[in-house]
Amino acid sequence: MSVLEITGGRPLKGMIRIQGAKNSALPILAASVAAEGVSVIRNCPELTDVETTIKILRHIGCEVWKDEGVLYIDSSRPIRPEIPDMLMSELRSSVIFLGALLARAGEAWISHPGGCELGPRPIDLHIGALRAMGAETDDRGGRLICRARRLEGGRIDLPFPSVGATENAMLAAARADGMTVITNAAREPEIEDLQNYLIAAGVRAAGAGSSVIYICGAGKGRVHGAEHRVISDRIAAATFLSACAGAGGEITIYDTEPKHYTAVLRSLRETGCELETGEGTVRIKSSGRVKAPRPVTTKPYPGFPTDAQPPVMAALLKAEGTTVFVENIFQNRYRHTDELRLMGADIKTEGKTAIICGVKKLTAARVKAADLRGGAALAVAALSAEGVSEITGLKHIDRGYECMERSLEELGAEAVRLEDG
Ligand code: UD1
Repeated sequence: MSVLEITGGRPLKGMIRIQGAKNSALPILAASVAAEGVSVIRNCPELTDVETTIKILRHIGCEVWKDEGVLYIDSSRPIRPEIPDMLMSELRSSVIFLGALLARAGEAWISHPGGCELGPRPIDLHIGALRAMGAETDDRGGRLICRARRLEGGRIDLPFPSVGATENAMLAAARADGMTVITNAAREPEIEDLQNYLIAAGVRAAGAGSSVIYICGAGKGRVHGAEHRVISDRIAAATFLSACAGAGGEITIYDTEPKHYTAVLRSLRETGCELETGEGTVRIKSSGRVKAPRPVTTKPYPGFPTDAQPPVMAALLKAEGTTVFVENIFQNRYRHTDELRLMGADIKTEGKTAIICGVKKLTAARVKAADLRGGAALAVAALSAEGVSEITGLKHIDRGYECMERSLEELGAEAVRLEDG
């Protein structure tokens, strides 16, 4: 069992580059299947979720290679539109292959996606969107078969701005006949990044970033491979800023887009931290004695991101006053709170609400990550706890952070990974 040992109690200092966005890279890799030809993807983060996605791409018949940090996907050969359960269950984003395979091959054989540790994660909106374009679905014993002799553009009114359903609809629409209009679409920056990839691949699309997206399908025309640079990861940025807010110190993050996480920056400013945003940079200075901000309520973009809730919470455990969190996106997103209590945090949760009463000190503990962002929260809390914390369950953290210990070390923290065996 691998362990991340973090020695808390030192202020952070230094500069780090923010990795490419996981939540952009994964759908874009799936989109490279809807295209035909070689796609060149820059700034793709090195994560286990990306490795699993590459396994899926290879399984369905793509050639994938890396050269000097750039990822190449050749999807010119015929595609096998089936993904084995084992790969599907490893990551939630595998569901985006549904739209991609349907667009490319007219059918998709998949199972329900994994990554359900945050509570029920239904895909009814994804399926509804694909059906609206003429797909037929058959859901048998956990195996989902989706077929469309012809995908037809149309109007898709999403009842909720689901990120995944918007992405699936965009991919299917890219090769449908005629125009698709997606209303109440998710507005996340990652959706705009996907649209930019599709445009580079020859699809006529507009509107991503707003609630209405227009896609003029290529029909029988060609969608080709494309070159694209993945945007910066706004959740990784929020995580390292939270780490500094909680532990104290002064750090600068670069290769980041502060406009993508204004809601997080607003909350961090309310804690009394000094924040300065520049062109692709954010500098934060914290005394380590933060104060409770106004209630933090997670919402679809541009609201406070659900993914930033755990690390920001971890930065506020010693805050002066009481912080209220309301989690509106996922039912089971407070699993980190049990572990944070082991470090001495005073947290009460009830349904969607978590109430954090700031404590004077946190003490190092042996804790286990139960999900990706919850794991990041444990690292953030460990940095401001007295003593050496031991974090296990690192496979969750590795899904979304490129070598967390190296980043923390670059910021002057003492963080060491002890590999098993
Ligand atoms: C969500 C987050 C996204 C984040 C990602 C990874 C939101 C709105 N989305 O995206 O920012 O990066 O997790 O952690 O914050 N739902 C349905 N039926 C569906 C699809 C979704 O009821 O078919 C519900 C879910 O149960 C959940 C909500 O909609 O309550 C969020 O869904 P969605 O945006 O689709 O989730 P992800 O795409 O996983």
